[in-house]
Amino acid sequence: MNTHEENYVGKSAIDEIISKHKGKPGELLTTMEEIQEASEYKYLDMQSMDYLSSQTKVPLSQIYSVATFYSFFNLKPQGKHTIIVCRGTACHTKGSKVLLDDLSTMPGCKDALEAGETSFTTEDRLITVKTVACFGQCALAPVVAVDGVIYSNVTSEQIKKILQNLQEDNKDENIRLC
Ligand code: FES
Repeated sequence: MNTHEENYVGKSAIDEIISKHKGKPGELLTTMEEIQEASEYKYLDMQSMDYLSSQTKVPLSQIYSVATFYSFFNLKPQGKHTIIVCRGTACHTKGSKVLLDDLSTMPGCKDALEAGETSFTTEDRLITVKTVACFGQCALAPVVAVDGVIYSNVTSEQIKKILQNLQEDNKDENIRLC
């Protein structure tokens, strides 16, 4: 079984999600979000989008555009932990590039980010590194989100410690850094 097959939640699960949100405001976004959340590797695989299109009659091209437009949709397998570094002007000025450099010590990360990718996942799928344009919390720059928790005024030492803790898969230690 490959990753895409493992990620696919199946027709009946998707049918259930579709019918739950049918006719409600923002149904396409919510449906896509829930399918992603239900998937093993937290991304929208082509099979899921294809099936969603066939059941809702929303063109696949439209579903794909939505998935690529919103940064909370993923088109690739995600890691168990996610580190999101803000690359907005305020965060850049306060050193977010250094934080990304610290994360780029993971094999393959530097190449992926330098190639213009906005997301990188380690081979063991433990950690995903992403960038965003702005968290809307510029006064707290540089800002980093780790597994959905926002960290402000992050230093190089802190991000290294966060990374080390995640690599040891020790999230509780990580939270104590705040
Ligand atoms: S620029 Fe980073 S939060 Fe706005």
